[in-house]
Amino acid sequence: MNYIELSIKLKEPTFIKDVIIFELGELGFDSFQELDDELKAFISEQNYDPTCLALIKTISGNSLSDLQVINHPSTNWNKKWESNFKPIEVNSDCIIRSSFHKVRDVKYDVIIDPSMTFGTGHHETTLLMSKALFDLKLIDKDVLDMGTGTGVLAIICHLLGAKSVDAVDIDPIAVENTRKNLFSNTINSNNVFLGDSSFVKSNEYDLLLANINKNILLKDLSKYYKGLRKGGNLLLSGFFTLDNQEILDLATNIGLIFVDSKELNKWSLLILSK
Ligand SMILES: C[S@@+](CC[C@H](N)C(=O)[O-])C[C@H]1O[C@@H](n2cnc3c(N)ncnc32)[C@H](O)[C@@H]1O
Repeated sequence: MNYIELSIKLKEPTFIKDVIIFELGELGFDSFQELDDELKAFISEQNYDPTCLALIKTISGNSLSDLQVINHPSTNWNKKWESNFKPIEVNSDCIIRSSFHKVRDVKYDVIIDPSMTFGTGHHETTLLMSKALFDLKLIDKDVLDMGTGTGVLAIICHLLGAKSVDAVDIDPIAVENTRKNLFSNTINSNNVFLGDSSFVKSNEYDLLLANINKNILLKDLSKYYKGLRKGGNLLLSGFFTLDNQEILDLATNIGLIFVDSKELNKWSLLILSK
C-alpha cells in the first residue's frame, strides 16, 4: 500500500496543530508525528483526498510556513519503518520488537515485522489497546481482532491464553503480514481472514477488539454488538477523545454498557460490555 505523508510546518507551536490533527483524523489520516516545528500526518493513498490541503491552509492562516506532500511507495515505506522502529515497552512484562532487534528477557516478547501494515505499538491507539489486554482475563476466551493490521493485538491475546483468536482485516497485505507475524511468534493459528464486519456471526466472542477509525466503528458497531456474547467486552480505539461522546451515544443506544476509558495524547480507548 502506498502512503501519503503531509509535512506541515508552523511558524510557532500553537493550538492550531491540535486542530489540524483533529480535522485530519476525521478525514482518515491514521498516524501523526509531532516534532518541534513540524507535524507529519500519514494516510494510505487510497484514502487521500487532496482537498484537505485547502482545509489545512484555512485552519493555519498566517501560521503556516510550509506544506509538502510526500509520496511513499510501499518499498520506501518499508525501509522507513525499519530504520525508525525501536522496541516498545507495553509494560514491565511485555515488549513489542522486530525480529532484527535483540531478544528481550521478558515474559511476553512480541515480534512484529510490520511490512506495510499498521500496528507496531508506536501508535497511541495500539499501545492503549495492548496495555488494556493485560487487565483482562483471556484464558478460555474467544476473541475477534477486527482490523488486525500486523496482528499485534491478536498475538498478545494468544500469548495471554485466549482459547481462540480470529484476526480479520480488509487489507490483503495485513492478512499476509499477520500470518507471518503469528509464525514469528510460534503461534499456530490459521484463523486469519480477509474481510470486514460481515465476517461477524452472532454470539461468538467474549472479547472483540476494533482499533480502526471513527467512521467505520460507527458504521459497524451494531454488528460488533451482535458478535459478542452476553457479558463480553468490546474494546474500541482509532479515534480522538473528542469523539467519545458520539461513539458512546450510539453504543448505549444499541445496548452496550460503558466500562472504562483511557487516553493517550488525545487518542482514546473505550471499554464497553454487552
Ligand atoms: C489503525 S489499524 C489497527 C491495526 C492493529 N489492530 C493495531 O491495533 O495496531 C486499522 C486496521 O483496520 C483495517 N481496516 C480498515 N477498515 C476496515 C474494516 N471496515 N473492517 C476491517 N478492517 C478494516 C486496516 O486495513 C488496518 O489494518
